[in-house]
Amino acid sequence: MKILMVCLGNICRSPLAHGILQHLADQENLGWQVHSAGTGNWHVGNPPDRRSVLAARNLGYDIGAQRARHFSTSFFNEYDHILVMDKNNLRDVLQLTETQEHRNKIKLFLIDDEVTDPYYDNDLFDPVSRQVEQRCKEILEELRG
Ligand code: 4NP
Repeated sequence: MKILMVCLGNICRSPLAHGILQHLADQENLGWQVHSAGTGNWHVGNPPDRRSVLAARNLGYDIGAQRARHFSTSFFNEYDHILVMDKNNLRDVLQLTETQEHRNKIKLFLIDDEVTDPYYDNDLFDPVSRQVEQRCKEILEELRG
């Protein structure tokens, strides 16, 4: 199973979802590969925002070794599930698809809801991280079948 988490910059939200779901899947020896990418390319090669690194650490996860990547259309074949953090990400990724098979792989990470972008509000990183952790636990159960 290969899962891709997507947000705008790939430095705040998707690194949290990436690191947390990978950690949970590894604990269960599921052999899953969880990765992340951004629809924007400004931060490519950079580590996650230090506020996300700290918020993850507060919950017991280490995301500091991740490096930001830019979303590529090759990912539509590479990944089984592409989970996006907000509706702008959904629109941007859907715009790049050419087949229904690829469109079927793309879903909002939260059910019918968006993960708030914490970039401009320091106080959002801890609540966003807890929300992402909770949803990762649900996704683990949903996808392991
Ligand atoms: P992310 O947050 O999409 O959760 O990684 C953002 C990071 C950077 C920017 C915007 C959102 N930015 O404008 O640089």
